[in-house]
Amino acid sequence: MTAGAAPAPKPAEPLLALDSINTFYGPVQVHFDLNLTVGRGQIVCLLGGNASGKSTTMKIILGLVKPASGVVRLGGEPVSGLPTPQIVRRGVGSVPEARRLFGEMTVRENLLMGAFTRRDERAIARDLDRALGLFPKLAERLGQRAGTLSGGEQQMVAMARALMGRPKLICMDEPTMGLSPLWVDRVLDLIATINREGVTVFMVEQNASLALEIAHHAYVLQTGRIVLDGPAGDLRSDPRIRDAYLGGQDKT
Ligand SMILES: Nc1ncnc2c1ncn2[C@@H]1O[C@H](COP(=O)(O)OP(=O)(O)O)[C@@H](O)[C@H]1O
Ligand SMILES: [Mg+2]
Repeated sequence: MTAGAAPAPKPAEPLLALDSINTFYGPVQVHFDLNLTVGRGQIVCLLGGNASGKSTTMKIILGLVKPASGVVRLGGEPVSGLPTPQIVRRGVGSVPEARRLFGEMTVRENLLMGAFTRRDERAIARDLDRALGLFPKLAERLGQRAGTLSGGEQQMVAMARALMGRPKLICMDEPTMGLSPLWVDRVLDLIATINREGVTVFMVEQNASLALEIAHHAYVLQTGRIVLDGPAGDLRSDPRIRDAYLGGQDKT
């Protein structure tokens, strides 16, 4: 760089960064120096076989599991070590594995649970309207117990509940698991819609070929190590991905 040149613009800070994460369950190491980033406004997909450490990655981001070393940053600020409610307050929403609704509570009560960090009732009511605008089918089900909905409907509740926290980033763990092909398409469409509304998405997904259609970028995790990453379009045509994941999409 020549003296007097204008300072180079700072590269845009990723919304989420995992920096050299090592995680253990007791003596068993499940992450080996994990590094990944999620840019603002993106859909980033984490692919990988069973037990490769995908769900644990989500739990690390949400502060549900503490890494032995490494840092999680949100907009550049370290959040690892903070309790989960504080991480949620900083703009991280979650659609956990198997959805985890309160089955005995109504759809409305489940959705309002998503706003548990917030106090402004009017804004919460507006957000409920907005969520129901995105998921109009739920409007007819507000008084129904969540446990009586179909899997696809429950997934819509889980996504709408996450939106009620006004997240910048939503982490989704296998959002299409156990759904019929029609619902898999619907849920992935809804994820793309949520993303277009400005929410960044980090998701684990078994339906690799469909996930790569809506994702911007993807990482492949293999027994706790990132072995491959790139733009989703490149990975879709990568023979290593095709052989390992795309052929297996009918298995579910
Ligand atoms: N709470 C836990 N205690 C001990 N081992 C765990 C726990 N949760 C997950 N594991 C183990 O850690 C590894 C990674 O699990 P997980 O992150 O759930 O993988 P994935 O979501 O990719 O299937 C697996 O071998 C799993 O058995
Ligand atoms: Mg998992």
